[in-house]
Amino acid sequence: MTPRPRGTETPSEEAVRLESGSATARLHREAARYMVGGTSRIHYFYPPYPIYARSGSGCRLTDVEGVERLDFLNNMTSLIHGHADPHVNRAIVEQLERGTAYSEPSEPEVRLARLLVERVPSIERIRFANSGTEAVMLAIKLARAFTGRGSVAKFEGFYHGYYDYVQVSYSSGPGDWGTQQRPASVPSSGGLADSVAGDIVVLPFNDRQSVERLLGEHGRSLAALIVDPLSNRAGFPRPLDGFLDFLRRITAQLGIVLIFDEVISFRLGFGGAQAKYGGDPDLTTLGKIMGGGLPVGAVGGCAEIMALLDPSTGPPAVASGGTFSGNPLTMAAGLAAMERMTPAAFERLDLLGERLRQGANASLARAGMDAQLSGDGSLFRLLPTSKPVVSHRSLPFDPAAGALLAGLHRGLLEEGIIISRDGLGCLSTPMGEAEVDLFVGALDAAAGRMGRN
Ligand SMILES: Cc1ncc(COP(=O)(O)O)c(C=O)c1O
Repeated sequence: MTPRPRGTETPSEEAVRLESGSATARLHREAARYMVGGTSRIHYFYPPYPIYARSGSGCRLTDVEGVERLDFLNNMTSLIHGHADPHVNRAIVEQLERGTAYSEPSEPEVRLARLLVERVPSIERIRFANSGTEAVMLAIKLARAFTGRGSVAKFEGFYHGYYDYVQVSYSSGPGDWGTQQRPASVPSSGGLADSVAGDIVVLPFNDRQSVERLLGEHGRSLAALIVDPLSNRAGFPRPLDGFLDFLRRITAQLGIVLIFDEVISFRLGFGGAQAKYGGDPDLTTLGKIMGGGLPVGAVGGCAEIMALLDPSTGPPAVASGGTFSGNPLTMAAGLAAMERMTPAAFERLDLLGERLRQGANASLARAGMDAQLSGDGSLFRLLPTSKPVVSHRSLPFDPAAGALLAGLHRGLLEEGIIISRDGLGCLSTPMGEAEVDLFVGALDAAAGRMGRN
C-alpha cells in the first residue's frame, strides 16, 4: 500500500481497492498473465480492473478486500434469489450427493421441463442446453429446418448471445447503422462467417411500417424472426401496444418462425414476458433464472417444430447434444428456484421495481442529470439520457453520455452498490424496500458528487 502523509483522511474502501498493493490489484495482475484481459467474459471488465468476488449471501456480495456491497447485478440477472439461497443450495447438495452428471436422463430434468411447460402456454415441448447462446443457436437451426429457408431477421441493437447469426447490429452506431427505415446489417464481432451479414435482415424495433415493408421484401427467404420482448442491450424499450401481436400476425402470414428470446425477460412474470406483452411465439429461448444460478439454456415451443429434435423414431432432423445438457445439478437448482417464483413472488418484485424506478428517476431529476432508470418488473437499466426509449436509436452515442454512465457506475460502486458497467441491474427476492431505498440514497450521493465536480 502507498504510504500516506500524516493528517490525511482515511482512504475510502474504493481508494484502497485501487492501490497497486491491494488484494484485487494483485489478483488482477495474476489473472492477466493467464487469461486475456484477465477475464473470461467480455462484459466483466471495467478500468482499471473489476472487483473480485470472494463470497455472496442473499443480496450481498463480499469482495476479496472484505468489502460488502449490495448486489443489484446478480450474475447478470440470473440469480433471482440472490446468492447462496438456502432452498437452492439444499437442492444442489442433495443432488450432489447422488452424483453430478449422468449419461442418462434424470428426474429433476423431467420435473423442471414439466414446470416450464405448465407455466408457458406456447411451450408444448422443451429441450435443455447449457447457455442462452446455445438455446438461440438451436432455435434458429430448428427454424431453418422447419421452413427450409436460411435467413434470419433480428432487431437493431438487440443482443441474443454470441452465435454468428445473431451477432449483427447490436453495437452499430450513427456512423454505420444506415437509415431508420432500413437499418444496415453490421457485424458486431470479428470472426463471423462471411455469409452472416448478408443472411441477416435488421429491423427497427417498434416501427411497424418499416418492419412490414422489410418483411414484405425478404419474408419468403426468412426462416426466423427473433425478438427479445424487453431488450436489455437496447435500453429496455417496452414494446408499443400490439407490436408483438403484429409480429405474430405478419410472421404467420409469411411462414416465418417467430422466436421470443426470453433469456432475460423471463423475469417479468410467471409466464414470462409473453404473458405480459402478448405475441404467442412459435419458439422461446430461456436461460439465466431458470437454472437457479448454474449454467443453463433451453428452447421450448410448439410440438410440431420441437418434433424435429425427436430421436425416438429415427435420426432427428435437427441434431442437438451437449454433454452437460439437462445436467441434474442445474435441473435441481432450477427447479428449486422456479418453484418459489409464484405469481405472488413476481408481483412483489414488480412492486419493488416500480419503487426503485420512481425513486431513482426522482433522484436523477433532483441532481439535474440527463439520465433515467428504464426497465420493467425486476429489471432496470441506468441510461445516460432522459428521453423516452423506443428503440436502439433512442440511446445516446456521444462520449459525454459514456462518461456520465461510467461516472455513475463508479459512484455507485463507491457507495456500495453493484450494477453492470453499462447500467444493467435487477432485484432479487431477498431484497425489500430497505435495499431499494439504499440504492436510491446511493444514487443521490453519487449523482450529487458528480454534480459538484
Ligand atoms: C436476451 C439474451 N439472449 C441470449 C443471451 C445469451 O445467454 P448466455 O450468456 O447464457 O449465453 C443473453 C445474455 O445475456 C441475453 O441477454
